[in-house]
Amino acid sequence: MVKVKDKEFTICITAGEICQKVAEIAERINHDYDGKNPLLLGILNGSFIFASDLIRKLSIPCEISFVKFSSYSGTATSGKVKELIGLNEEIRDRHVLVIEDIVDTGLTLEKLLESLEQMGPASLKIACLCFKPGSFRKTFRIDYAGMNIPDDFVVGYGLDYEGFGRNLPEIYKLSR
Ligand code: IMP
Repeated sequence: MVKVKDKEFTICITAGEICQKVAEIAERINHDYDGKNPLLLGILNGSFIFASDLIRKLSIPCEISFVKFSSYSGTATSGKVKELIGLNEEIRDRHVLVIEDIVDTGLTLEKLLESLEQMGPASLKIACLCFKPGSFRKTFRIDYAGMNIPDDFVVGYGLDYEGFGRNLPEIYKLSR
């Protein structure tokens, strides 16, 4: 049990399990992107830890950049997505791999994918550590999902509750 701000959370995914899932995703990316020099595009703030662990397990030549979106306030989705930092890289004809910590409703990614598709990438795929299939309301495909999780609100490993909890090495769910 850990306390983050005013709420209590219990462990649901250990650091070892996370490490294993990141390694599995990296192995698939190393295979699928061999010879393609992909551009990884992390979505800030939440993906910074996943992205940094993932890229260190990639053995293929690759680049990484970050964009910043926000759709959450507290523990419930606001339903609104706001672009805070735009994309500076030229992505035309690049193999772009979006790196997201967690996909919930899919609203954040849908908006990003729409923008990126208009820029003419050679390919556009998504890697996320956690996926909440029960909340997902969109139709696009998640190409690399580390693990499916229930619709619990989670913190740790980059994920926050009101800005706190990102530093926890494990993933914790909100206690009922
Ligand atoms: P979506 O747009 O509903 O898919 O939400 C995606 C974003 O919301 C993620 O990038 C996270 O930053 C945040 N998010 C979604 N679920 C959680 C959660 O359980 N804990 C913390 N942040 C979350």
